[in-house]
Order: sequence, then C-alpha cells, then structure tokens
Amino acid sequence: MRFRPKLTVLGTGYLGAAHAACLAEMGFDVLGVDTDPARIGALGRGELPFFEPGLQPLLRRGLDSGRLRFTTSYEQAAAFGQIHFVCVGTPQLPGADGADLSQLRKCVTTLAPMLDSACIVVGKSTVPVGTATAMADQLARLAPAGSAVELAWNPEFLREGRAVEDTLRPDRIVAGVRSRRGEEALRQVYWQQIEAGTPFFVTGLATAELAKVAANSFLATKISFINAVAEVCETVGGDSVLLSRILGADPRIGPGSLWPGLGFGGACLPKDIRGFGARAAELGAAESLRILKEVDAINLRCRGRMIGLARDLAGGSLTGRAIGVLGVSFKPDSDDVRDSPALAVAKAIHDLGATVTVYDPAAMGKAREICPELQYAASAVGAAAEADVLLLLTEWREFCDADPRVLGKAAAQRNIADGRNVLDPDLWRAAGWCYRALGQPWSRQPTHCETDSGGSARGGLPIVSG
Ligand code: UDX
Repeated sequence: MRFRPKLTVLGTGYLGAAHAACLAEMGFDVLGVDTDPARIGALGRGELPFFEPGLQPLLRRGLDSGRLRFTTSYEQAAAFGQIHFVCVGTPQLPGADGADLSQLRKCVTTLAPMLDSACIVVGKSTVPVGTATAMADQLARLAPAGSAVELAWNPEFLREGRAVEDTLRPDRIVAGVRSRRGEEALRQVYWQQIEAGTPFFVTGLATAELAKVAANSFLATKISFINAVAEVCETVGGDSVLLSRILGADPRIGPGSLWPGLGFGGACLPKDIRGFGARAAELGAAESLRILKEVDAINLRCRGRMIGLARDLAGGSLTGRAIGVLGVSFKPDSDDVRDSPALAVAKAIHDLGATVTVYDPAAMGKAREICPELQYAASAVGAAAEADVLLLLTEWREFCDADPRVLGKAAAQRNIADGRNVLDPDLWRAAGWCYRALGQPWSRQPTHCETDSGGSARGGLPIVSG
C-alpha cells in the first residue's frame, strides 16, 4: 500500500484551485485554504470563481468524494497537512518591476508558528531567486517543530486554459530540495506522473526558482522575436505567418510560442520578465538580462501597431468611428483580462475617441469591471453591428470559425483587422471585406492571386503554444 500524505493548498487562485482539484483527482486528501471567505464558500459549493475548461467536473468530483475540502482556517490546515503547497499570488509591484511578495510573507508567517510537527512546505508560486532560501530560514525560526519543517520548491508550469491537462500530465516536474526527505515527499505526490515517464528534475532551491522565470522569459523572447520580424515584414512586404511556419519547422526552433500577432499578456509572462530583470539588477547582473527589456518593449509595440492598423482601416482617424472588438481575454479559453493586450487596445481606441463595442465568450464580466466605459455586446454579430472597423484581438475558436458573410451583413463597413493572424484572408476578401493583419505588409495588401502564402494556407487555428 502506497503512503498517501495529506496535502494542503494555500491560496486558491487560478493556480491553487487547479492544483487542489487535480491533487484530489489523483487520489489525495486535500484541504484548500484561502483567506477570502467568499472564494472558499464558492469553491466549497463546487462553483469555480473563474473560467477554466475541464476544471469544474474535477472540483465537483473531489468535493463529492470527500477527498477535497476548503477552509479559511490556517489552524485547520496546519493540523491536517503533511505537505503544504504554497500557491499564493506574487503579482508585479505597483509602479515597479519587482514582485510583490506580501501574500507569500503573510502566508508563511501565519502558518509557521502553527507547525508543531514534522512536515514539508512546498513553494509553487513564482518568486525572485533567493526567496526560497530566505523562506526556509524563516520557517525554521518560526515553527515550533524547527528543522523538522522542511522547505522544497516545485514551480508550476501550467498554462491557463490548459490547467487540468498541464497539472495531471505535465511536461516535466522540478523538485527543488535541500535533502533526500524533500525529494521523497515530492516523489510521493507525483508518483503517477513519474511512473508515466514525466521527467523529474531534482535541483537545489535556486535552480527550481530560476526554472520558472527562465522558462517564461524564453517563451516571451520567442514571441517577441517573431513580432520583431513581423515589424520588418510590415515595412518590406514579408509574410510573418509564413516565416513563423518556416522557422518553426526547424526542430531546433520549434513552432510553439512563435505565432506573430498582438503579443503576450496575462498574469505571468509580462510580470515574470520584469521581475527576472529586476532581480538580476539587485544581484548586480542587470547586463545579463538586458535582452528582456527589449522583449518587453517589442511586445508593448504590438499594441501600438494594432491601433495604427485600426486607424488606417478607419481612414486615418479613430475619432467618432464605431469599432467592433472580438475578444478581450489575454488568450482564448480563459476569462483572465490581467494585462490583456486585447483589452488594452480596446481601451486605447476608446480613449482616442472611438465608440468601442466588444464581445468575448468568457471575459465580459471581468472586462466590464476594469473598463466600464466600453460597450458590451451579447455576441460577435452584436460587436460587429454598425462597425466601421472590426478587430479580432483574441483568437477564440468561435471567432476563427466566424462566417464573414454573416458579420458583413451586420457591419457598417467591411474592414477587418486580424490581430492574431488566424483568419483566412481569401475567405474574408471573397465576402467583400478589406482584410488586414499584423505582421503583413502595410502598403501593399496581397490580393487573392498575388499572395505568396498560397491564399488559404493560413486558414484555421495555428499551434500558438506548446
Ligand atoms: C504561461 C506559460 O506558458 C506557463 O508555462 C506558465 O506556467 C504561466 O505562463 P499562460 O500565461 O497561461 O502560461 O499563457 P501562454 O499560453 O504561454 O500565452 C501567453 C501569452 O502569449 C498570451 O497572451 C498569448 O496570446 C500569447 N502568445 C502565445 C502569442 O502571442 N504567440 C504565441 O505564439 C503564443
């Protein structure tokens, strides 16, 4: 009979809620803990406070089986858990590039004095390198059980929209540990994945912390690289989509995170590249990560280029024009609008004097909270209604498959700007639309017979990450 440690998950945001439900699905007894009573109440009733495909049934199953429970009580968590996973948020500091570690500090200083027997505390949150070592010392100092409380670091690589799959069947597991005991604890948790052949990397604490920020920085660099190439394409008449395919066909490069468009956003990539750079600077190695400043700048320029494209299609000025927007979440299959390029563009165009009407399959509520000044439609057709220009800003499947004839009937003028390079230009042009896209030449749009991409070669959903 395999030993199954009792687990707690501290912090039940996107990461923690997904982690807790997946651990229960893997057969563990799990206690999810959060200081927000409303969130804990919702989770306890089986209601997910955010949109994540496939997570709802797991939450329900965990609750029904009795293996998954939720509480606001740290006392209960300390008494219950043999392994405590710390999943609290570490957002960007307001007005600075570094990470705000206040939630992490609060979590550790609350939990540690209650730990009176041997246990393992496992950090999963993304942190500046060096945080784990400081946290280990703090735990040893504050916990009545002293050195019997051990710290390990097990960074999370899950993608929003793919959280369940990425947690149950991850690409790799990183176990940052200080001893054999820490390693064994993580092997007990992830035995199913290890038996299924998932690579299990045993490292020190610093390497584990760096694994996460280095991975995200690399993904961001790939995206910005292709978007820098896209800028050149716009001036010299190249096709960045075709270039992405050509580069991605080289196995040393690979197609993931190489799709040109509006660039990256969300709660991870932007803040992680800034936080990594800020930490390097603190450590006297600012020069080493200067590249990340450029990655950030290229990414933010994508938003400006998108606004320029909209202005161009609107005839040179956005003032007084009606602009329809498809998609405001930072990526499809998510309702997350944190640092969403789509929402930033919609807001900027509104601020330039246009009437902006948006539609998103999942993120309407969250977008409305942040940008009440925008108009919200109940469907894609509603967003296109009476629009002078329609912008596709987040590549939800529904938009990729949209019928240009139907949207064309609703629009005032048939101008479409494809910010994610996912529509079939031929199809849209055949339906009478003036089709433009980011990373395509500005001055001379290829027509059906001129296109060097063979017309419909770009149609359908690309592989945008992986
Ligand atoms: C990312 C990492 O992928 C994940 O491993 C980590 O744990 C958390 O951060 P996520 O933020 O969910 O995950 O999104 P991801 O799928 O990586 O996409 C990030 C952004 O890049 C999105 O805004 C997406 O639209 C954009 N993107 C992605 C591109 O612009 N082009 C691409 O080719 C891929």
